[in-house]
Amino acid sequence: MKRHVVTGGAGFIGSALVRRLAADGGAPVVVIDNLLTGKERNLAGLEDRIEFHRIDIRDYDAIAPVIAGADTLYHLAAIPSVPRSIEQPVPSHEVNVDGTFQVYRAAVEGKVRRVVYAASSSAYGDTETLPKVESMAPRPLSPYAAQKLMGEYYASVFHTCYGLDAVSLRFFNVYGPRQDPSSPYSGVISIFLKCLIERRSPTIFGDGEQSRDFTYVEDVVGLMLKAARAEGVGGKVYNAGNGNRYTLNQVWETLQRLEGVEIPALYGPPRPGDVRHSQADTTAARRDLGHKPRFSLEEGLRRTLAWQRQELGAV
Ligand code: UD1
Repeated sequence: MKRHVVTGGAGFIGSALVRRLAADGGAPVVVIDNLLTGKERNLAGLEDRIEFHRIDIRDYDAIAPVIAGADTLYHLAAIPSVPRSIEQPVPSHEVNVDGTFQVYRAAVEGKVRRVVYAASSSAYGDTETLPKVESMAPRPLSPYAAQKLMGEYYASVFHTCYGLDAVSLRFFNVYGPRQDPSSPYSGVISIFLKCLIERRSPTIFGDGEQSRDFTYVEDVVGLMLKAARAEGVGGKVYNAGNGNRYTLNQVWETLQRLEGVEIPALYGPPRPGDVRHSQADTTAARRDLGHKPRFSLEEGLRRTLAWQRQELGAV
């Protein structure tokens, strides 16, 4: 019987994908996660509908039988964060590069029909023009960016050399429910929301005029499902972004307005490895994959704020 396998399925984005796959019914959903950054409670309520394997993607012998025969393998397992990869490059290299290699190897051996890989917009680095188009030369500025780019290169090489049908989606600053705000390496929107709810000032690194294409998690999940079905995309790379761009100052202003409060931000030194501006050109993803982002930043922030308030209230 057809199965879908999600590596990193207990993580923030992975669990949103698993929830959607499980809700759609159809093929069984199998999760691979070592729970390093993922959490079992992200999958709460799905216990009867998914098969969970607490294993590490670096362990080929453990993952190979789980991956074998899958219809679609969504590869999201990674150690994220630009600053974490600068401070601790070894674990992120081992998981993001070596682990990814083992996942693709298992997919070839196990004759998986399609692989959808979670690549990163960080691969672009600082480009001279915006928005960022897939044809631009990558210029990674951090170990994380280089590692995620290597995953794309391996996807393409495994396609050419071994016939693996793997497509890479460059995620652009994904945010939404279940993004964990508790670590200094957490995504900025989750940190801002926690500050807002607790009526504290966030610290903005630099002048706050750096900008990001913040993409709501459900739009990325929708695109992954489309990428799983699209024809002729093996070995290719697509931007998975919203197509807009907001500065951190604008995001913090919007959040204060939504909440009806005034809490000035604090400003600290710029963060090493930071990209200045990021915005996706979504033309290719719309054309080839049927990408159609639905959530404006304000709508996504409202939804995420509602979830985070409930979550913090419950703790
Ligand atoms: C990068 C990638 C993104 C990837 C993510 C994985 C780019 C453009 N984006 O996100 O695709 O998914 O890594 O981790 O490279 N900031 C503050 N205060 C805070 C926290 C962050 O000002 O408390 C700032 C950062 O300095 C940065 C921005 O917010 O300028 C976004 O940071 P973050 O959410 O960590 O994501 P990126 O590093 O942009």
